[in-house]
Amino acid sequence: PDEKIAEYDLIAQKSTSVFVNDVETETYGYNGNYLGPVIKAKKGEEITVNIKNALGDEETTVHWHGLEVPGDVDGGPHQVIQPNESLQTTFTINQPAATLWYHPHPLHKTGKQVYKGLAGLLLIEDEVSDKLPIPKDYGRNDFPLVIQDRQLNQNGKLIYDLDMMDVMHGKHGDTPLVNGANDALLEVPKGKVRLRLLNGSNARTNRLHLKDELPFWQIGSDGGFLEKPVKLQELVLGASERAEVIVDFSSYKEGERIELFDQNVRLMTFVVGEELDKETEIPEQLTTIKTIKPEEATKSREFVLQGMGHMVNINGKQMDIHRIDEEVNLDETEIWEVSNPNGRMAMEHPFHVHGVQFQILERNGEEPPENERGWKDTVLLMPGENVKLIATFKHKGTFMYHCHILEHEDAGMMGQFQVD
Ligand code: C2O
Ligand code: CU
Ligand code: CU
Repeated sequence: PDEKIAEYDLIAQKSTSVFVNDVETETYGYNGNYLGPVIKAKKGEEITVNIKNALGDEETTVHWHGLEVPGDVDGGPHQVIQPNESLQTTFTINQPAATLWYHPHPLHKTGKQVYKGLAGLLLIEDEVSDKLPIPKDYGRNDFPLVIQDRQLNQNGKLIYDLDMMDVMHGKHGDTPLVNGANDALLEVPKGKVRLRLLNGSNARTNRLHLKDELPFWQIGSDGGFLEKPVKLQELVLGASERAEVIVDFSSYKEGERIELFDQNVRLMTFVVGEELDKETEIPEQLTTIKTIKPEEATKSREFVLQGMGHMVNINGKQMDIHRIDEEVNLDETEIWEVSNPNGRMAMEHPFHVHGVQFQILERNGEEPPENERGWKDTVLLMPGENVKLIATFKHKGTFMYHCHILEHEDAGMMGQFQVD
């Protein structure tokens, strides 16, 4: 890998956006009015990011979700940037091509800042993604789609307040946004198109499908390519999960419209345009993934997701920044058994681990579905479900594990592990 130094500036700031009916509302964003720039990096590259907190009166952090880096540059709740302060952070990309993202992670205050618009994508490319004949003309046949839901009040304003339902199940809204736009149109070429999907909602689980139940092929999960494409008609993504998919629009005529839905809600519409000059494929084999064997594990741990509302917790404990919950040995492999026992109320919890990409050994005692047989950093547990994860911890430092329903995280459904 070539060692190139790339430098980026991220300024977290307040802004004004328009989502519906020409109404202006206060939002937050990086370097602009809502969301942030797409950062593109190469495996092997060293990246420097100059982060400035220009929010005025709130602390923030920038966490690199899915990135395998040491704890001191992970951007979790320990790396606070005070108002009007800056932080320069440097890390080396050392993991396969993937669609990752970044967002704030201040203790107990993550939900509001992400909701207001602080989030962006980090795309990693490597020798595998360079060689594959898949669509990769960014902005022509390769599009990132950040899917979010927001609640605008009767005046069209974006206000972060939580009612009883939001406290229980996380903040949901009836206004879907894709890349910050409500009900957008996107012109796509007649042919194969790659979509890099992020469920960037605070809490909602997406159940994505296309008009006519048009099939598509999932080629990547959170941490990189799957070994083989998986043909799907519906894709379930918990909050913070990503998937790369290829949709083939070649059977449609120019000008035809194909909607993307989350259950029965239209998120956006694709308009078929002209064919592109370049031929792309959905290859049978995308990459090879070295399976981590259960025998390699030196330890196994249990994580029980439980509680309701303000009481949500992991293993009976709520987040304490002065307490390390789990101590992990550097370079060792562990099995983490995560369960979401049925309680008085059915709760979904997307469980996320910082600083590693893991593999799913089992879901409910069985081999995971084909589209979960790749690298993952978040796993969705429906009520009553359990999963067995396996990971090798290659970076030192203090890291978080938590539910990625941000209101659950903020309530304390988070713990810390120390790798040493
Ligand atoms: Cu996406 Cu702890 O974060
Ligand atoms: Cu993370
Ligand atoms: Cu949760």
